[in-house]
Amino acid sequence: MKIVLLGYMASGKSAIGKLLSLKLNLPFIDLDNYIETCEGISISAIFSTKGEIYFRKKESEYLQELINLKNDCIISLGGGTPCYGNNMDIITNNSKSIYLSATINTIFERLKSETSQRPLVATIGKENLKEYIAKHLFERSPYYSKADEIISVDNKTIEQIVKEIK
Ligand code: S3P
Repeated sequence: MKIVLLGYMASGKSAIGKLLSLKLNLPFIDLDNYIETCEGISISAIFSTKGEIYFRKKESEYLQELINLKNDCIISLGGGTPCYGNNMDIITNNSKSIYLSATINTIFERLKSETSQRPLVATIGKENLKEYIAKHLFERSPYYSKADEIISVDNKTIEQIVKEIK
């Protein structure tokens, strides 16, 4: 069985995936890191040199590649992965998917200091960031909500969330 962690940017997918992998003794793969390794270039550089459409195409291809792996593992997705093409069907048909749900305020508090590493929000001023998150999260929620389980991550430690998932 594969466990797939999904959710908006800064919801804790990678950190939770790493700890969960230790607790369950399963390999952990972060889709963004996998894309960067396979493409030999950072996600930010993919966005700036090849564009978002290229990124989304590669994201779907590499997602399928990870889903096709024979062994059980934990996979954390990028924030947008479930929202393009038939990615969410691929995810729900082949794994136990968990939506790490965070409120607009939690996401804003975490994202405001680290927008530069994230191409989608890198050019959005702090004064517009909360409004952007609210709209974007609203658009993405229908996809996220198709996950098998929804876990709220607000005001919880990574250890608490991992315990809940287990
Ligand atoms: C994206 C989120 C990023 C990364 C890319 C696009 C998105 O991953 O995949 O910048 O569309 O929300 P994180 O959710 O790990 O920041």
